[in-house]
Amino acid sequence: MSQGLLSLGIKRVAVANQKGGVGKTTSVLAIGSGLAAAGKRVLLIDGDPQANLSLFFGVKSASDEGACLGKALAAYARGEPGGLAAQVIHEVRPRLDLVPFRMRRIRAQLGAADLKAARELFAEELAALAADYDFVLIDSSPSDGELERMLVTASEAVIIPLEFQLFSIAGLEAMIDGIATCSREAGRTIRLHCLLFTKSENRVGRVEQYRAVFSNFHVPIFEICKSEYLPRCLERSKTIWEGAPASYAARDYARLIERAFLG
Ligand SMILES: Nc1ncnc2c1ncn2[C@@H]1O[C@H](COP(=O)(O)OP(=O)(O)O)[C@@H](O)[C@H]1O
Ligand SMILES: [Mg+2]
Repeated sequence: MSQGLLSLGIKRVAVANQKGGVGKTTSVLAIGSGLAAAGKRVLLIDGDPQANLSLFFGVKSASDEGACLGKALAAYARGEPGGLAAQVIHEVRPRLDLVPFRMRRIRAQLGAADLKAARELFAEELAALAADYDFVLIDSSPSDGELERMLVTASEAVIIPLEFQLFSIAGLEAMIDGIATCSREAGRTIRLHCLLFTKSENRVGRVEQYRAVFSNFHVPIFEICKSEYLPRCLERSKTIWEGAPASYAARDYARLIERAFLG
């Protein structure tokens, strides 16, 4: 049986996969709002310049005004403190705070920087900020570059959402290698906490076969069923707990929260 993050004393969790459309943002939203509803204090970090998570909470993108993770990252890239705590929008829901993304042009600034120093500055400021929360969840972007490395390096554990397909294996192996590299650079263990198979459906009875293949990675596996409620809630700016609390998808996310986080 898998151990939960609470009992492991782990707060900072990146939800990452270089592939797009696998349910990273959906999962950060469902887990974060579910933990907050369960009485935990939660900080969400939108680490994707496309800012889907920020948009959900009504944050206007492509703006230089207002809180933005990019402002802190740009400071780290110059070798300066980023004032991450000043980029927090408080109480987007009860007990739920958000560091949004607004500026799209962050990658060019990171490109020229001393990235080792920048990564360390971010990891330090995030660890300090995490003292105010029970959990910090980081949504990351669907690519594989310096920004994503910074996000993983600043975390203590990673959850990888992916689809139950045999061709997810190569991407997963690359992700696991990437986490090991970040661990080495950070000088501490970054735990691969679990795999999260989203959009799961057992139409052709393949799930058992896939489960057997992926069990070779020796990482706990959770599943979220394919559900039309998830995109529908997203469109209406409702979390799954607000829009479809009795759905199978809500049941699956509740089980994940209970076991992988609060267990
Ligand atoms: N379990 C699910 N069942 C059905 N659709 C889902 C599920 N999880 C996510 N989606 C949908 O898939 C699309 C991509 O999800 P998203 O969370 O934005 O992925 P990512 O952040 O990895 O790019 C969205 O339209 C989302 O509503
Ligand atoms: Mg996303």
